[in-house]
Amino acid sequence: MNLNFEPQDDQIRPDRLVVLGTGGTIAGRAAQRDDHVGYRAGEVAVADLLDGIPVPPGWRVQAEQLAQIDSKDIGPGVWRLLLARVRDWLGQPDVGGLVITHGTDTLEETAYLLQRVLAPTKPVVLTCAMRPATALVPDGSQNLADALVVAAEPGARGVVAVCAGRIHSGLALRKVHHYRLDAFDSGDAGPLGLVEQGACALFQPWPVAEAADCSRRPVWLDRLLGPQPWPRVECLLSHGGADGWLVRALLAQDALQGHDRPDRLQGLVVAGTGNGTLHADLLAALLEAQAASLRVWRTTRCASGRVLLAGPSSDPIPPVALPPAQARLALLLELLTA
Ligand code: SIN
Repeated sequence: MNLNFEPQDDQIRPDRLVVLGTGGTIAGRAAQRDDHVGYRAGEVAVADLLDGIPVPPGWRVQAEQLAQIDSKDIGPGVWRLLLARVRDWLGQPDVGGLVITHGTDTLEETAYLLQRVLAPTKPVVLTCAMRPATALVPDGSQNLADALVVAAEPGARGVVAVCAGRIHSGLALRKVHHYRLDAFDSGDAGPLGLVEQGACALFQPWPVAEAADCSRRPVWLDRLLGPQPWPRVECLLSHGGADGWLVRALLAQDALQGHDRPDRLQGLVVAGTGNGTLHADLLAALLEAQAASLRVWRTTRCASGRVLLAGPSSDPIPPVALPPAQARLALLLELLTA
């Protein structure tokens, strides 16, 4: 299986960009042009979104509609399709890069998954909008134009996201606002760069494959594209009065359904307070979960930052330096090669 996505034929200079449509607000339609909230996501075809969008000189653009969903509803079905199509398109020697139109709500999860599993050597640029396509002043058309610029940028590689003129690494990005057009942030890492007046200004290197993932990526891809359900990993929160009831309810339900099922509960990610600290009563229940063979990781429920270790740790619940939704995917991948 070719996981490097290098053109097979050195004689072919890539001149094709492919835009994969998955839905989201960028493809949303509202009854009133000034309605930015009461619209339906995933209505306008990706080919129509591309109408009138400037194509970078020397490139041709092709569209493929992969899905038409509100991204809050994404899951293994659409992620499988994306993993397979991104791999296939990037294997075409004349394809220089991909753009994926996606809802903002789970864009950071899709970006994280694609970068960890595929770590492409060509650019894969996710883009989105905070206003529907039918808005008086939609933001999606500019984001789409900027995403094509990034996909055509010489030397660009890896999974990134483009929103409101900023380029974010697919590994660092997080949605931080429910309404603002500039809804994403790269936390302490800061954005990779900007798209200004049809050109990229880069501050940091493009995302590259994590060395430790190299031998695991083919196994992940094979397993994620296979017929088996993905490992079940659930997320929960430490909060005032968190007494572990939810954890024990999950363990009881799982025991009731039997441990031999392929979709049995295998992991928990808990978003702790501050530096990933956990309510003592919740911790007691999480230790019971570990004793029942569940993998348990902790992160922070803070909007920014990551969990720091105080020193050599004998902490029974290992910390992970990722936001909860990406930590869930990281644990899911870990379980596939455990
Ligand atoms: C979605 O995530 O599909 C809807 C919300 C958005 O794109 O902003």
